[in-house]
Amino acid sequence: MKDYYAARAAEYDQVYLKPERQADLRAVEQWLPTVFAGKTVLEVACGTGYWTQFIAPVSAGLVGVDASAETLQIARSRLSGLAVTLVAGDAYELPIGERRFQSAFAGFWWSHVPKSQQRRFLDGLHAALQPGATVVLLDNRYVEGSNIPLSESDAEGNTYQRRTLADGSVHRVLKNFPSRRELLAIAPGATVREWPYYWALTYQLPFSP
Ligand SMILES: C[S@@+](CC[C@H](N)C(=O)[O-])C[C@H]1O[C@@H](n2cnc3c(N)ncnc32)[C@H](O)[C@@H]1O
Repeated sequence: MKDYYAARAAEYDQVYLKPERQADLRAVEQWLPTVFAGKTVLEVACGTGYWTQFIAPVSAGLVGVDASAETLQIARSRLSGLAVTLVAGDAYELPIGERRFQSAFAGFWWSHVPKSQQRRFLDGLHAALQPGATVVLLDNRYVEGSNIPLSESDAEGNTYQRRTLADGSVHRVLKNFPSRRELLAIAPGATVREWPYYWALTYQLPFSP
């Protein structure tokens, strides 16, 4: 995953140019900032900072974490002038020290978390947040003709795509497309928003554990 996205960094933002997704992108770009306005935000797997550019200006401070130096370099230039701290690190071992955030966002990350690692990821994420914090996971719905077809699955139910980069290299990438029911099971009281090409799961942490 990390190596694939490092190799893909320069061409990553092309995914945001797909013509059929433009209306959905505009809708999500308008909605997301309303969730994070006035809150401190921990953004996991921030990549090239595409979503960061909409969230950071309304937030009360944003820390973005990503494993790839290559994507972070693009994010740094895109976000220059915004009050954003970008940190290289692992989503499963978040490098945030003692800081606790009022909200968290992960765009197009959940689909890459192996099923066996989902609880570990969530426990680490929740430990980085304040009681009552808001969490948003945003990701793809599978749409024939727009998404790369799934090529295989493994014993724990993860699905995979074969993706080709501009240099011709082919990568086997774990990409899950959870059902609405699976999403709602992630956290009590969670709500799912759906657009034709995307879903967003939103929930609040309890105030007392
Ligand atoms: C599909 S991209 C999403 C990027 C961005 N959130 C967006 O929506 O445009 C997934 C990102 O996860 C990062 N990544 C892969 N493995 C990671 C890990 N273990 N910890 C943190 N980031 C990781 C990749 O470098 C890549 O930027």
